[in-house]
Amino acid sequence: MRLILIGPMASGKSTLGRRLSNRLQVDFIDIDKEVEKSAGVSISWIFDVEGEEKFRERESKELLKNIDKDNCVIATGGGVVLSEVNRNILKKGTVIYLETSIQTQVERTINDKERPLLQESSNKEQTLIELKKIRDPLFEECANITIKETKNSHNEVVEEIIKQLNLK
Ligand code: S3P
Repeated sequence: MRLILIGPMASGKSTLGRRLSNRLQVDFIDIDKEVEKSAGVSISWIFDVEGEEKFRERESKELLKNIDKDNCVIATGGGVVLSEVNRNILKKGTVIYLETSIQTQVERTINDKERPLLQESSNKEQTLIELKKIRDPLFEECANITIKETKNSHNEVVEEIIKQLNLK
């Protein structure tokens, strides 16, 4: 089993991914955290000092490094689908797209200091809308299942994913 969570920033990939992995008793791998671990610095630092392109290289490298692990849930960063190479790598797992509204993303990132693409922006909502236009078709292309945003609790969403995947 290899489940991969994709979706925009603040769609809950890390939070739900961890819960899903606990529920299924498999490992949890967070690609953003793997990037930070192997670089020894934060994602903000990488964007500031090395730039986005270098971050994308690091992100692809960590995805490739972790993709063959079995019995795991993998949470990705929101920009992982931008690269065609990454999109092909994602095919090695069952891809779950967490569809999330702009409003929810704005609410959840209002005090965020860790997402460089939003820190650099004077209008977060506009930035999120622009990213969505480019990325939504890519998320859809990669997804095996799509989980639409609801007011349900994390546990309920986890159960919904399990149901849709026909897992027990
Ligand atoms: C990014 C999303 C972030 C992180 C980096 C770039 C993006 O991950 O990878 O800041 O391009 O959308 P989250 O989706 O977990 O916020």
